[in-house]
Amino acid sequence: MVRNLRLWMLVLCFCLANSAFKAVTEDENDERKPYIVYMGDAGENYHVEAAEDHHNILLTVVGDESKARELKMYSYGKNINGFVARLFPHEAEKLSRDEGVISVFKNTQIQLHTTRSWDFLGFVESKYKRNVAVESDIIVGVLDTGIDIESPSFDDKGFGPPPAKWKGKCVTGKNLTRCNNKVIGAKYFHLDQQNFVDDHGDTAADYEGHGTHISSTIAGVSVSDASLFGIANGTARGGVPSARIATYKVCWELDGCSAMDMLAAFDDAISDGVDMISVSIGGSSLPFFSDPIAIGAFHAMKRGILTTCSAGNTGPELFTVSNLAPWVMTVAANSIDRKFQTVFKLGDGQTASGISLNGFSPTKKIYPLTSGLLASNVTAGGYGEPSVCEAGTMGEDKVMGKVVYCEAAPEEGGGSGGEDHIVRSLKGAGVIIQLQEPTDMAFVTVIPGSYVFFEDGTKISEYINSTKNPQAVIFKTQTSKMLAPSVATFSGRGPQRISPSILKPDISAPGLNILAALSRLESLTDYPDDKRQTLFSIRSGTSMACPHAAAAAAYVKSFHPDWSPAAIKSALMTTGK
Ligand SMILES: *[C@@H]1O[C@H](CO)[C@@H](O)[C@H](O)[C@H]1NC(C)=O
Ligand SMILES: *[C@@H]1O[C@H](CO)[C@@H](O)[C@H](O)[C@H]1NC(C)=O
Ligand SMILES: *[C@@H]1O[C@H](CO)[C@@H](O)[C@H](O)[C@H]1NC(C)=O
Ligand SMILES: *[C@@H]1O[C@H](CO)[C@@H](O)[C@H](O)[C@H]1NC(C)=O
Repeated sequence: MVRNLRLWMLVLCFCLANSAFKAVTEDENDERKPYIVYMGDAGENYHVEAAEDHHNILLTVVGDESKARELKMYSYGKNINGFVARLFPHEAEKLSRDEGVISVFKNTQIQLHTTRSWDFLGFVESKYKRNVAVESDIIVGVLDTGIDIESPSFDDKGFGPPPAKWKGKCVTGKNLTRCNNKVIGAKYFHLDQQNFVDDHGDTAADYEGHGTHISSTIAGVSVSDASLFGIANGTARGGVPSARIATYKVCWELDGCSAMDMLAAFDDAISDGVDMISVSIGGSSLPFFSDPIAIGAFHAMKRGILTTCSAGNTGPELFTVSNLAPWVMTVAANSIDRKFQTVFKLGDGQTASGISLNGFSPTKKIYPLTSGLLASNVTAGGYGEPSVCEAGTMGEDKVMGKVVYCEAAPEEGGGSGGEDHIVRSLKGAGVIIQLQEPTDMAFVTVIPGSYVFFEDGTKISEYINSTKNPQAVIFKTQTSKMLAPSVATFSGRGPQRISPSILKPDISAPGLNILAALSRLESLTDYPDDKRQTLFSIRSGTSMACPHAAAAAAYVKSFHPDWSPAAIKSALMTTGK
């Protein structure tokens, strides 16, 4: 029936195509861009004929059999009906008028939204009730940057085989050569083969670290003595440590995350048999019919699968929340009751503290202190701003063996960025970086380093100006208690314009300075020359909050396996602690 309708359409439009459009040359093909053609729900077993149907629809606008085959990039059809093809805008527009087509939208790039946290939530190990038998039947699908299966958080000791309902696959590749009974599935998606540049190629292995961190937050097994160079030491674990993980790699280090890949991952995850989907990815707010996460999550919900999404990291301004569909659980980030303080002492005995993740203990009592300004080698008329320690503006002879103070760059939140790396390249002994705006996020530094609030920075500058031989020493980061929770500064805020009557975010969860598994395949600080190895790292973002809420949802489901996505979401939203 469906196919007949398409053929009829084909005949009608072929004449139009002939009269209106000139022949397409190879050059014009490069101009065509991937568009997603969304056609609603795929019926049972539809995927068998989906490809042919989609081909016929495409034929109605491109008018040529082999051209249609060449332009079609992918057919969805397991749960979601639709396809991806390279099109000109006018072709996309024409397709959108097809009776069977709900929407046609250009493929877009979407962003990643970058343990004590479980204790803080009241999930104190061995003190909370768990339904382990049911929990171990729960499969959480994670759409992200892949996974490092060799992390101790994914050790499958004591796990039985995957639940019988599991229909997914383990697609192996470089650095992901197996799955196990904890990570039971792995797939990767990059439909645009033509413009694919990722160095690492066809593999679900995680070179970014985001997916590994998130997956371990949801369902990592207990790992004792976990820490980042001794900072935040304790037992690391996920919220539902007996649950299984299925990884769907949709984000690539160099190519980013794209809408068409995400939709393909949703289509597969739903039919593979996952119980929950966690998506720490989001873009600008789009109408639901052109939002791949909204569409994917909608089809998931129809099959009883709750999708949990991050609210975005562009707060605190209004209208910054993303992932707005009412059928997803949208998660804001809050602090936990632990903060990271990096104390330093000046030569005159003053001490102050900044925020960072500094794993280095000093090897000397005190070091000479200088500033970017004093270390400047910019000659008159030269370019660059030494006061903010910009690359290429300081002389190695003036920095070597010293702690360098860098002023905040006026326009930005922090300094000019990468100051620790720049000072390290000049053989500096440490760095203190002034921040323009207060922050609640701690970052790993490649040399001893501390980020200080604006006023504290000014005091350091005064001290440097007051003496001939300024000195300082930076101590290893320590944790201390703080009042919590409060919503993290960066967390995306409502209201929203797409469906203003629906309040978003729905819920908040820990997303500030969260310790979780580090992929062995990533560099701790993104600098290739930072060769330090550690099994855990600390990250902040609504990306880190989303898996906490996803795991809480899985926890509820382990006691109420028959509850709908809406019931689980409602239970979490209406239960205070
Ligand atoms: C990743 O794979 C490459 C190529 O197979 C190999 O040389 C490298 O050692 C692997 N890395 C890790 C951390 O296993
Ligand atoms: C972390 O390490 C410190 C110092 O070694 C120790 O005093 C503390 O008990 C440890 N905390 C945990 C939770 O293991
Ligand atoms: C300043 O020092 C940097 C790093 O040592 C060097 O790359 C640059 O050429 C120097 N500039 C001048 C003007 O000497
Ligand atoms: C320290 O001296 C430098 C150079 O004269 C100046 O730019 C800076 O404002 C001084 N710092 C303070 C806190 O006065």
